[in-house]
Amino acid sequence: MKKGLKIVTIGGGSSYTPELVEGFINRHAELPLKELWLVDVELGKEKQAIVGEMAKRMIKAANIDCEVHLTLDRREALKDADFVTTQLRVGQLDARILDERIPLSHGMIGQETNGAGGIFKALRTIPVILDIVEDMKELCPDAWLIDFTNPAGMVTEAVMRYGNWDKVVGLCNIPVNAIVEEAALLERDPEELFFQFAGINHLHWHTVVDNKGKSLTDELLKIMYGDASNSKSIVANIQENDLIFEQVQNLHMVPCPYHRYYYLTDEALKEEIEDFKNSGTRAEKVKGIEKELFELYKDENLDHKPQQLAERGGARYSDAACNIINSIYNDKRMIMTVSTKNNGTITDLPADCVVEVTSMITGNGPVPFQFGSFAPAERGLLQLMKSMELLAVEAAVTGDYGTLLQAFTMNPLITSGFVAKQVMDELLVAHKTYLPQFAEKIKEIEKATTAS
Ligand code: G6P
Repeated sequence: MKKGLKIVTIGGGSSYTPELVEGFINRHAELPLKELWLVDVELGKEKQAIVGEMAKRMIKAANIDCEVHLTLDRREALKDADFVTTQLRVGQLDARILDERIPLSHGMIGQETNGAGGIFKALRTIPVILDIVEDMKELCPDAWLIDFTNPAGMVTEAVMRYGNWDKVVGLCNIPVNAIVEEAALLERDPEELFFQFAGINHLHWHTVVDNKGKSLTDELLKIMYGDASNSKSIVANIQENDLIFEQVQNLHMVPCPYHRYYYLTDEALKEEIEDFKNSGTRAEKVKGIEKELFELYKDENLDHKPQQLAERGGARYSDAACNIINSIYNDKRMIMTVSTKNNGTITDLPADCVVEVTSMITGNGPVPFQFGSFAPAERGLLQLMKSMELLAVEAAVTGDYGTLLQAFTMNPLITSGFVAKQVMDELLVAHKTYLPQFAEKIKEIEKATTAS
């Protein structure tokens, strides 16, 4: 009999916490969770208290012998942890609103994990995650870090490259959703199918074969993109999946929902600008959904995850998080798609960078399935975006302005030249509380702006 587990969730006040708790409850026979520590910061204290009480009620209703601790003291929580999960959002949704609104006000995509907004989310998040890793080295050196904090690929890259911590798995719900939804479109049982994903977080492609070895990828592309009635996206934060059939057919791989920003940039931008002017950006909508969720969580009679959580784009992530923990803890060798070190899996990318690939999750972490090389259509975009990520991660760690500007210049969702530099400067100033690594440069920008 294995000992009881201590799991620490940083960003424990998130509205997603009930999903995670539900996942632990459903797997309790295999995952003997004994202590769940929900950690947050002063700014998230109120949410942490509400969702923390809800978590306690859920555990009690499930009749599980597990203590739920709520704390603002991260180090106290991390002591002797077995698994640490991160789902924090530095600066909360207000920071995301700025990531979306500032680029949009200059006619560029404003998005949580892509374009200028995604880069700035990385700049705010990476130093905090690297601090957590330093604490882990001291307080729970055997623990695994399961990162759900976005941009998950860049965060995982930073942890491995600059934190020198290899016991990290970056995860995302997109592959989980794709398997469920696309198997349904194919009218097949997901258990009969093998989906192989390769790429980087929020920019991967996949193939599907059945248990007789027959490829179903082209058939799936036809169902998804050849029939307009199937154009609903598999995640709540992206409405449409209406790519040009002839183009995706030619890929012979299924793109992920975020490809819409790259393959249909003008359309996506037009819609975002429309929302920006009229109904509000995605983060502003999410704020409304969150408000409603926290009102529900306050109800002392509520002891299970409410249906309304499905309106968030990250729905089903508990399946990913809990399956990974279960698979590592019990060496279950489940097949899942995660951000992990490339090590030659995708031959088009450096061996030491992080990729998002289908892997077997063993007791020793993910072992990726070999993928090989992409055709030029995918390879070009992938190499560009991975290089862009490497620069953004480096800038997050060093606070170097030139490196950041280089990432901006390369990103296909950011208009080049002086407008890009202006957007970057505006974002630096707007987020200055959370960007200590750029403090000197931000002062300079502010001084120059006041002088002009
Ligand atoms: C998708 C992505 C997540 C992201 C979420 C945003 O599901 O995979 O990484 O966090 O969408 O959803 P939201 O409801 O916050 O817009």
